Amino acid sequence: MAEEIEKILKKILGICGSPRKNRSCDFLVEEALKGAKETDETIEIEKIYLVDYKLEQCTGCDQCLREPYECPLSENDDFKKLEEKILSADAIFIAAPCYFGSVSGLTKVFIDRSRPWKMANYKLKDIIFAPMGASGLRNGGAAGVVSDLINFAFIQGMVCFGALGNPVIDENIPMTSLQKYGRKEFIKKGEIDEIGQRVAKNIGVRAVNLLLKMKNK
Ligand SMILES: Cc1cc2nc3c(=O)[nH]c(=O)nc-3n(C[C@H](O)[C@H](O)[C@H](O)COP(=O)(O)O)c2cc1C
Repeated sequence: MAEEIEKILKKILGICGSPRKNRSCDFLVEEALKGAKETDETIEIEKIYLVDYKLEQCTGCDQCLREPYECPLSENDDFKKLEEKILSADAIFIAAPCYFGSVSGLTKVFIDRSRPWKMANYKLKDIIFAPMGASGLRNGGAAGVVSDLINFAFIQGMVCFGALGNPVIDENIPMTSLQKYGRKEFIKKGEIDEIGQRVAKNIGVRAVNLLLKMKNK
């Protein structure tokens, strides 16, 4: 019985890697989680903000390379709290803002601190993972963010996936920008990026469908 319940309940964790709440990254995470919930209302979803966790930056001490594969910084910050959330997820989305073509420092600190999970024989292996990026300019470097996140996921042994939609006109990676399609046109307060919204929702749908396939075998 317990096993059966476990089979039905699957958790998707959306992580906002921006220091700002209620902005572009938050929007992508929110829409992706909505897409998941609309596909299967029994799915457990949770959104967390990295900014709510106190995370010291990696000092490169390499203690995580040796048993018990722990980071000494975790004794005094919120890493363990974050670990609890991450390790209970079947699927993870991270939306990170584009800062100079890469992820935000906040997200990078998280990525670097995640090293003990890899060293303890890939604790994140087989979690399915989708990257999402937000930038100011439409072609301002969000692809670099996505590439950073994909590298993180691969190195951690996660399984990366993209969104499906209309194969000719829908993008596969949720990205949003404040700039619309005209050079001087920016999203105003109250407006949303409908393409970013659609692709983010499609990521949620895909995550649920993949989890169902993987778990119900
Ligand atoms: C330090 C910093 C660097 C940034 N670098 C870029 C950049 O290289 N390209 C770009 O298009 N936008 C850049 N931006 C703009 C952010 O990517 C944009 O505001 C994005 O929406 C932030 O995500 P958020 O709204 O979820 O915080 C930068 C913003 C900051 C604060």
